[in-house]
Amino acid sequence: MSLKIKDTIEWVGKIDWELRKFHGEELSTAHGSSYNSFLIKDENNILIDTVWSPYAGEFLKNLAKTIDIRSINGIIACHAEPDHSGALPYLISMMPDVPVYCTANGQKSLYGYYHQNWNFNIVKTGMRVNIGSRELLFIEAPMLHWPDTMMCFLTGDNILFSNDIFGQHYASNFLFNDLVPQEELSYEALKYYANIISPFNKKVIGKLAELDTLNLVIDMICPAHGVIWRDKPTSIIEKYKKWAGDYSENQITIIYDTMYNSTRRMAEAIAEGIKLADQKVFIKLFNSSREDKSNIITEIFQSKGIIIGAPTINNGLTGSIYALLEELKLLNLSNKKGGAFGSYGWSPTSIILINEKLKEANFEVIGEGIKSQWSPDETKLDECKNYGFEFANYFNS
Ligand SMILES: Cc1cc2nc3c(=O)[nH]c(=O)nc-3n(C[C@H](O)[C@H](O)[C@H](O)COP(=O)(O)O)c2cc1C
Ligand SMILES: [Fe+2]
Ligand SMILES: [Fe+2]
Repeated sequence: MSLKIKDTIEWVGKIDWELRKFHGEELSTAHGSSYNSFLIKDENNILIDTVWSPYAGEFLKNLAKTIDIRSINGIIACHAEPDHSGALPYLISMMPDVPVYCTANGQKSLYGYYHQNWNFNIVKTGMRVNIGSRELLFIEAPMLHWPDTMMCFLTGDNILFSNDIFGQHYASNFLFNDLVPQEELSYEALKYYANIISPFNKKVIGKLAELDTLNLVIDMICPAHGVIWRDKPTSIIEKYKKWAGDYSENQITIIYDTMYNSTRRMAEAIAEGIKLADQKVFIKLFNSSREDKSNIITEIFQSKGIIIGAPTINNGLTGSIYALLEELKLLNLSNKKGGAFGSYGWSPTSIILINEKLKEANFEVIGEGIKSQWSPDETKLDECKNYGFEFANYFNS
């Protein structure tokens, strides 16, 4: 399948409807994904990125229906990660001298994966390649999200090919942002940002400021995953600016694990207290062993405060809470408040550990948290309610 996005530009990628986990098993992709590859026809025909290797054969067959492959004059490899470079070895074996445009780090990573000395043409920010009636302008974007990442801008059509940046793991038969359910799309774009891009928030702020200084008129943004931003294309840039700053919504999220439900009952009492203090705040509760980790991270990303609960087990934390707190340290979140709670039998270690790890993850920890020896009685549940009440009120002070 190839789809025209403009007179001389075709989408020649692969929609992966069945993908449910990405980056190995790290990231959930409830709506599948796509690997977007674009063919620009001009005096020089240019291919931008390819697809993941399991789909390389299918990709080449499709591409051959759109163009005689040997008449491709150049390949732009914006990013060496195998979900975009996977078909390169097969494609380049059909035309070994084809120029491959990539960053210096791109060459290193592509060589690292495929161990072949292709006809690498190293590009830097500001360099342009004339393809006939138009030019491609390169914009390096190191650490968004790999050292090799770059974008390129097509003059004339004013299209920014942004690779992973501005992507969404979202499979759709429609190629464009205005044709798909908006709530689903917004959630997938946010989930993608929270889980993949947020560790690089500072780089995002710098790169978007640099993009502004280039004064490009952008009519379309073509990311390497999901739909193309053609309706109000720059609104995703504005969203990234917000997300990369101290982003939060009016939401408090309680995440807990439990073996015998004591910690769960504490969580629900804390939620009651929050509701008493603030009728408007969204309160969400998740059992960390049952809810998908990538979804939990998305919820945390949009929360102004989180309260984490775990029972003490073997003088430590349960696995899912331990893993979540370790991952939070990697996400570079800022301006968020945190709290801790949990049930224990003889050593209330869990809340001490949760508080410590929240601080390490840059959360402002409020109070010492609340603990219950064994199962909480009515008095203890009232204390939990009060704790929730005070936690919510902290945002008003
Ligand atoms: C395998 C196991 C190990 C435990 N280790 C500890 C511990 O090291 N220190 C402690 O205070 N309590 C320990 N406990 C007791 C639990 O913290 C206690 O039962 C608590 O009430 C469980 O809360 P929950 O109902 O939310 O699961 C352990 C319980 C289990 C089942
Ligand atoms: Fe990537
Ligand atoms: Fe990707």
